[in-house]
Amino acid sequence: MRRYHVTTFGCQMNAHDSERIKGLLEELGLGEAPSQDEADVLVFNTCTIREKPDTRLAAHLGNARVLKERDPERVIAVGGCYAEAQRERIFDLYPFVDVAFGPGSIPHLADWVGAGGEGVARGSFGTGEERAFAGRLPLHRERRFQAWVQISMGCNSVCSYCIVPAVRGREVSRRPGEILSEVESLASEGVREVTLLGQNVNSYGRDVGSDFAELLRAVDAIEGLDRIRFTSPHPKDFRAPVIAAMAECEAVCEHAHLPLQSGSTRVLKAMRRTYSRDRYLRLVAELRATIPGLALTTDLIVGFPGETDAEFEETLSAVEEVGYDSAFTFVYSPRAGTEAASMADQVADEVKRERIERLVEVVQRVAEERNRERIGGVEEVLVEGVSRTDPALLRGRTRRNTTVNFAGTAAPGELVPVEIQHATSTTLRGVERAPVAA
Ligand code: SAH
Ligand code: SF4
Ligand code: F3S
Repeated sequence: MRRYHVTTFGCQMNAHDSERIKGLLEELGLGEAPSQDEADVLVFNTCTIREKPDTRLAAHLGNARVLKERDPERVIAVGGCYAEAQRERIFDLYPFVDVAFGPGSIPHLADWVGAGGEGVARGSFGTGEERAFAGRLPLHRERRFQAWVQISMGCNSVCSYCIVPAVRGREVSRRPGEILSEVESLASEGVREVTLLGQNVNSYGRDVGSDFAELLRAVDAIEGLDRIRFTSPHPKDFRAPVIAAMAECEAVCEHAHLPLQSGSTRVLKAMRRTYSRDRYLRLVAELRATIPGLALTTDLIVGFPGETDAEFEETLSAVEEVGYDSAFTFVYSPRAGTEAASMADQVADEVKRERIERLVEVVQRVAEERNRERIGGVEEVLVEGVSRTDPALLRGRTRRNTTVNFAGTAAPGELVPVEIQHATSTTLRGVERAPVAA
């Protein structure tokens, strides 16, 4: 049997696309190989959001080149966002690559592999002309009790630093009926938690006569689901009906990932985020007032072109003011073709480095304070498996999306009450409690 291996970079959308890539290859009769070295078909599902994933990919492709030299029958395929961004150059940069495809043309890989390379020219690139929802392709699920569900593709925003609109295209929503029937079948297969995915998940629906609040309520009405999550929402589209749906739908978790990017209104404007610091903070206040126990997480960028020390300080103070449960922190990375990449006042690398260090410090302190407040409480945990750091403990996630390592006997997929006894900035530790009699 021929075997494949998929290496995935980037966000949850890419991780989910990889489940579809695997599903397609399995439909063609290929089995999964445990490593790149043992595979006949090597797929790299790439990301190009910052420079770092580009560099990591180059290292992986160095290994792929050696494997291909050893066995020229091996197929090397490069898909995803980096492939799309470099579509004119990919075969010049990496001449040993056989086939490439963007995020919208995953089926191209299957056509190529299915034809055994025959009748399809080596060095061909998927056209994306029939941009396909990965959600319609066969699925190889990585996790038994949790699933991703794609609800839209692409992004209509024009954030000046961001490459995503260029590589993922304009936003298109999937039909509600299609989404709901996918969720129904997942629930009937034993999935307890779904995460709805979109580049801008809460702008969903305008093009299909629906909206995100309506979709949340419809998913919540499906039997058998315990938890509903979604990512990533844009603050500009976080309207009252969505907040109300979050508050009223039992399965929708008390967690909002709300990317702030910068605490300075001037920088936000240059980023084209379309909200001010004040408007964001008002949204946070409204969310907290409506959804008790809400966890808030975010994405932050330091060193955007022209960011002054005082503006950076505003990002620090916003972290304190909001009190994030966690945050992804990034050093601004210029991406070719984006508006911000050609701005004159790029910030020096060493200034960016100093800023990210200070920011990480504040983020960790605030997160640890938030987590420590939870000590002594009992939280519902969805068991995911054995702890990654201590095999004597189990691992799971709270509704607020915090990882908990705990002593207990529950099986993966179960929901159990866990008493929280210890907290760091990123994880909780505790012990399983007997369920409280109703
Ligand atoms: N669609 C999502 C995710 C975008 S990418 C959203 O809008 O929230 C995830 C994060 O990467 C962004 O939120 C941003 O913080 C960061 N990011 C995007 N482009 C970047 C760049 N050029 N340099 C540094 N960070 C970047
Ligand atoms: Fe990028 Fe902005 Fe779209 Fe997010 S909303 S994917 S940051 S352009
Ligand atoms: Fe990266 Fe593409 Fe996701 S650029 S972050 S894999 S949308």
